[in-house]
Amino acid sequence: MTRPVLVAGRTGQVARALQRAAVARGVPLVALGRPDLDVTDAASIAAALAAHRPSLLVNAAAWTAVDRAETEEAAAFAVNAEGPRLLARAAAAAGIGFIHLSSDYVYDGGGNNPRDESNPVAPLSAYGRSKAAGDAAALDAYAEGTVILRTSWVHDPEGQNFIRTMLRLSQERAVIRVVADQHGAPTAASSLAAAILAIAAAIEAEGLAGRAGVFHAADAGCTNWAEIARTALAEGRAFGLKAARIEEISTADYPTPAPRPLNSRLDCRRLAETWGIVLPDWRQGVAATIHGIMKKSEEGQG
Ligand SMILES: NC(=O)c1ccc[n+]([C@@H]2O[C@H](COP(=O)([O-])OP(=O)(O)OC[C@H]3O[C@@H](n4cnc5c(N)ncnc54)[C@H](OP(=O)(O)O)[C@@H]3O)[C@@H](O)[C@H]2O)c1
Repeated sequence: MTRPVLVAGRTGQVARALQRAAVARGVPLVALGRPDLDVTDAASIAAALAAHRPSLLVNAAAWTAVDRAETEEAAAFAVNAEGPRLLARAAAAAGIGFIHLSSDYVYDGGGNNPRDESNPVAPLSAYGRSKAAGDAAALDAYAEGTVILRTSWVHDPEGQNFIRTMLRLSQERAVIRVVADQHGAPTAASSLAAAILAIAAAIEAEGLAGRAGVFHAADAGCTNWAEIARTALAEGRAFGLKAARIEEISTADYPTPAPRPLNSRLDCRRLAETWGIVLPDWRQGVAATIHGIMKKSEEGQG
């Protein structure tokens, strides 16, 4: 690859993981955030494309404050719906592929089985509505060149996420109450970064070749938040951290402004069949995030 992959978003979990993975693999990649690239501003997107002449555009920028979106829906829509529309249009104009990240929260969480991409979207929250609108807008603007990866429960050693919160709370409390009736898979940002770079390499080698569309991309397996917490704290204990006891509660015991889907299980077979990509088991991702957090804290950045 000679022309770089251009990533919208610089400091987010997936954006950082992409930057780390690109360095490790020797892939040229430029990640830009505000003010250099604002996904709500067509002129800044055009200027970034003109300056970097990328081979591929990736959107890792998003409004991810799920509860705050309930009261700031217009702001969430600007980033999550208008952003992908503008990015997809710009990628179409440049004649390059566009990879966009989306969410399990576009679905209603009904049933007990993993859902595939043929399920209709039926978001429960303003955030979910904004992500569903973004997917539709990107496909509307550039169906033949857009790859949408819908993922779930993203975590990384850097950034805001459930695992870091559990580790912090565990140092302060003996017991943490955690919801146990939402089912799905936590997904390491590093898994998504690897998948995105694999798709980038395949597009570089063979073009999109009819492989555009929506794909589920979550770490493998299924669990719930309480089990993720126990797994993460057990990993942390191996590094000498205190591990609180996890008390299981239900979603009804922990009301939030934005309702959460109870079933976030994503069937990822289409990604495997189309792109040959299978994400690792969720436990591997959680262990990697704990190791990353401990490494950062040893280096004095934690
Ligand atoms: N986090 C999850 O659990 C989860 C679950 C399912 C799907 N996803 C999806 O996965 C993708 C990546 O999520 P993530 O966890 O990496 O997100 P994140 O850590 O919250 O990062 C989002 C990034 O977007 C940037 N951003 C926000 N508005 C922007 C704008 N107008 N222009 C440019 N950059 C802007 C933010 O910059 P500032 O720091 O400057 O605000 C931040 O760097 C998103 O599409 C998200 O919807 C996430």
